[in-house]
Amino acid sequence: MQRVMIITGTRKGIGRHLAEYYLEQGYFVAGCSRSESDLLSSNYSHYCLDVSDELAVKSMVSEIAKKHKRIDYLINNAGIASMNHSFLMPISMVDKIFRTNVYGTFLFCREVGKIMSKKKYGRIINITTFAVPFKLEGEAIYAASKAAVSTLSEILAREYADYGITVNLIGPPAIQTDLIRNVPSEKLDKLLQRQAIHRYGTPDDVFNSINYLLQESSSMVTGQTIYLGGV
Ligand SMILES: NC(=O)c1ccc[n+]([C@@H]2O[C@H](COP(=O)([O-])OP(=O)(O)OC[C@H]3O[C@@H](n4cnc5c(N)ncnc54)[C@H](OP(=O)(O)O)[C@@H]3O)[C@@H](O)[C@H]2O)c1
Repeated sequence: MQRVMIITGTRKGIGRHLAEYYLEQGYFVAGCSRSESDLLSSNYSHYCLDVSDELAVKSMVSEIAKKHKRIDYLINNAGIASMNHSFLMPISMVDKIFRTNVYGTFLFCREVGKIMSKKKYGRIINITTFAVPFKLEGEAIYAASKAAVSTLSEILAREYADYGITVNLIGPPAIQTDLIRNVPSEKLDKLLQRQAIHRYGTPDDVFNSINYLLQESSSMVTGQTIYLGGV
């Protein structure tokens, strides 16, 4: 039986690596992003949508559920950041960050959770960031949005437990993608020094911890955050 996984934000960055990796593992992967994707595979479907668009998310999830009769795994990866001192942060950007990072994660958890509950099985992984425990100056809104994702996930872990669904979080350290392209290298070097392990994270580090959470034998692990790099 082929496992079915939804990953958000698969056009580029960590989400793209995740989609390619889980396709190699033989899963059916449904991904999404605001722009088209050039990822081609008979086991991959791409949906062009904004994760904060409720109707679009409902329609994507119901189409996948109808076609495959199951959704086993959800990785809420789509996310945006804007690194600015809070004096300089426009409210329109605050809105955009919360819509993508918090509303998007909530909508996918709600819609996919309902489908998973019918089979009494599911694994949800939400992506947070080291910026939360580091309380990074210049990232107040981004870190606050991910702190909201953490609390949301910890509570959903309780709400979904009776349905055989676990909800956990991975908090990667800095990984070299477009998300951190504009962060000055001196700032990144300082951040790496604050970690126990002084190197950038890689997509492999992320797969490794997600794989642990996806295992059937991880059914007792829920509401937990794995921060990588020793924050
Ligand atoms: N890179 C790091 O250092 C780092 C560290 C810790 C945590 N993270 C987290 O890891 C996740 C992935 O980050 P990344 O570094 O891979 O970022 P990235 O390279 O900027 O990629 C972000 C992905 O999300 C999609 N996306 C953004 N907004 C969206 C929206 N509203 N609706 C649908 N898709 C959307 C983008 O595609 P479109 O532009 O086409 O929509 C893209 O595929 C994020 O949640 C981020 O907070 C990253």
